[in-house]
This record gives sequence, C-alpha cells and structure tokens, in this order.
Amino acid sequence: MSILAEKHILLGVTGSIAAYKAADLASRLAQAGAQVDVILTSAGEKFVSPLTFQSVTGRRAYTDQDLWGNEAHILHVNFGKTADMLVIAPCTADTMAKLAHGIADNLLTVTALAADCPILIAPAMDGGMFDHPATRENLKTLQSRSVLVAGPATGRLASGISGVGRMIEPAEILGHIRMALGRSGKLAGKKIVVTAGGTQEALDPVRVIANHSSGKQGYALAQAAIDAGAEVCLVTAPTALIPPVGARVVHVTSAQEMLDALLNESGDALIMAAAAADFRPKQAAKEKMKKRDGIPQIQLEAAPDILKTVSGSKSGKRRFKVLAGFAAESRNLLENALEKLQSKGLDLIAANDISAKDAGFGAETNRITLLFAGGAKESLPLMSKTDAAEKIIEHVARLLE
Ligand code: CTP
Repeated sequence: MSILAEKHILLGVTGSIAAYKAADLASRLAQAGAQVDVILTSAGEKFVSPLTFQSVTGRRAYTDQDLWGNEAHILHVNFGKTADMLVIAPCTADTMAKLAHGIADNLLTVTALAADCPILIAPAMDGGMFDHPATRENLKTLQSRSVLVAGPATGRLASGISGVGRMIEPAEILGHIRMALGRSGKLAGKKIVVTAGGTQEALDPVRVIANHSSGKQGYALAQAAIDAGAEVCLVTAPTALIPPVGARVVHVTSAQEMLDALLNESGDALIMAAAAADFRPKQAAKEKMKKRDGIPQIQLEAAPDILKTVSGSKSGKRRFKVLAGFAAESRNLLENALEKLQSKGLDLIAANDISAKDAGFGAETNRITLLFAGGAKESLPLMSKTDAAEKIIEHVARLLE
C-alpha cells in the first residue's frame, strides 16, 4: 500500500503563479490514495479556482468564506487535528511571514496555527523577495520550529529574470511529502544501499555492451526504503529514471565501478537489483573502432561478481547485516535462484522469471518468488514493481529486527 494511501493531507495554496502547479500536486496526491483537502487563500483563488481542485481531489476546496461559514471556528481546528500533514505549495513570502509570526488572518494561517501535524512549505517568489533579510529571517524561524522547507529552485521567475525562488516541481514536492511521512517507519534509523539499472561495459569511446534493465525495480526499492524511513544510498548504472527525493545517489557505469562504489559504502542492508554485466571486453579500444578496419574480434573476460565479492570478503560481511539479490532467470527459476542464494551468501533472493512479458526487464510489473537463507519461500502474485518493492522492503525490515 502506498505511503500516501488513506493519509489526510491539507494542501494550502497561496497567491503565486505557481498555484497552477498545485493542481497537479493535488491530483498526484489524490491518485496516490490520499484524502486531500485544499485551502486557498484569497490571493491563491485569483490564480486558480476552487473548482479546479475539487475536480482533481473529488472533495470540496475551502476558501476564506468558509472561515465565516457554517462550520465556522471548528473547521480549522478539525483540520489541524485530523491531518497527517499540512503542505503549503506554493507558499508566498507573505504567508511565510505570517507563519513565522503566528499571524492567523485567513483560513489557511488559522489552520496552520492550530495544526499539530508536520508542516511542509514549498516557497515561491521572486528572487529579490527570497533573498530579502526579512524572508531569510522568517525561513530560519520556521526551520527552527521544524517546519520542513522544500525548495525553492533556481530558474526562470515570473518577472522574467532567472534566480532562486521558483517553486520546485510537484513530483519533487511529492517526494518530500513521502520522505516526511515515512520518517518514523519500520526502517527509521537504518541505512539501506540499493543498486539499480544495467551496467555498461565500454568497447571503445562510443560503444558499450549493455542490457535491457530499465532500473525500475531498483528505483522502486529505493523509494520504498525511503517511505519506510530509511536513509538510502542508490548506486545506479545509467537509466532514464529520476531518483527518489531523499536518496543519496552514486552514479556508476560499469560493473567494476559499481563494485568500487559498494566497497566504499556500508549499511544495514544491501539490495542488489542492478543487472550487472557478467562479461566485459578484455580491453576497451582507446580510439573509436573504424569500419574500414573490418569487423573487430572482441575478446571478453569475466566482470567482477559484485555480490560474491561483497559477501565473500570479511569486510564485506561486516559492511552489511543483510544481503539481498535478484535472480533473473529464463528457465529453471527456483533451482537457479536457490543456487545463487547459496553461492552468493545471501539472506534473501527475489527470483524473477524474465521470460514472461509482464515481468522482468522493462515491464511495469513483476512476478517474483522470495527465497530465504533459512529455507522459507514466498511466491508473490503478479504485481507492480512498486508493490513488489514494498514487499521486499517489509522482509528486509523483518530480517533486520
Ligand atoms: N550480480 C552481481 N554481479 C554481477 C552480476 C550479477 O552482483 N556481475 C548480482 C545481481 O545484481 C543479482 C544477482 O547477482 O542480484 C544475480 O544476478 P543474475 O544476473 O540473475 O545472475 P548471475 O550471477 O549474473 O548469473 P547468470 O547470469 O549466469 O544467471
């Protein structure tokens, strides 16, 4: 179940042109299963109408009129008590100032003052306003009171100039929300290292031997570990994916680089979801291989078996308490997976039938069977890579208990 499922999120929208992006954020939150109540300030309403938010959340959006309406004074108190989080995106310099000074002159700021849930703001304003000493002071005050601040980013501002003050993108705000909601999860205080993507082995300066791994399962695992409160290091081979917010990302290209990166890392668990190369050219040509020189004869050699190297060395065993891997198989799935579990010294292996169209490389879904060092086995039905990641993370958390 997504970390956002059944969460009650209050989304405050204030008067910035970035308010139109708040509709996208509200939609993403609702699609992830959250119950989203939107509160617009009167300036926010000038940019986007309550109807826009109602249409994407399926719930009525609130405005300052509701401060004096039927539910009157109890509305903001209720909101403040029942919400899992108050997110203000975009948050103008004016609203930041009000929050910092406890001013409560509209439904949103009254709610913020009454709220005992975590508050996250995504500032949006012109560069000069963000750099103003008053705004800087307010920001410091808010941070000292544990208000979470996401952004702002550098980029083109509404004034046409470029500077710091752009609201960060909705997908990124969503990542910050997930990270904040997950803070006290099962893996709080634990460090998880996840590898992802398919490594590339250079043939010459322009060509590589690669594989079909998309990185989706590894990135989903990194996100699931963050959702569970872990500190995450994502060691990733090249992919087209955006790393989850909160992950420390180490970019590598070849299997050797992935191994070197892991030998510099330690943590509670290592989850090897990467499709690391088994073979690499014995020697990468220094110059581009030319057609006119004929078809090259490429000699291959073994690439390092990363998991075996990590689990086989004493320092490797000390480096991670739990080692988990994947077995990508096109035949004899469980037999081969069991052999890998044992020979690579793993605590857990996810056996993955890559011959099926709906599982394995590039697919959105996976059908995996988990095999444990103690002999236990759990077959999971076809599920999204996100759900599979959550299941694996639950087991890793259990192994770490
Ligand atoms: N793996 C690794 N180093 C490699 C290749 C794979 O650590 N050079 C890891 C993978 O990340 C995965 C596990 O080992 O967690 C099994 O990978 P898989 O490709 O299924 O098996 P291989 O060990 O490469 O064996 P084979 O290709 O012969 O099936």
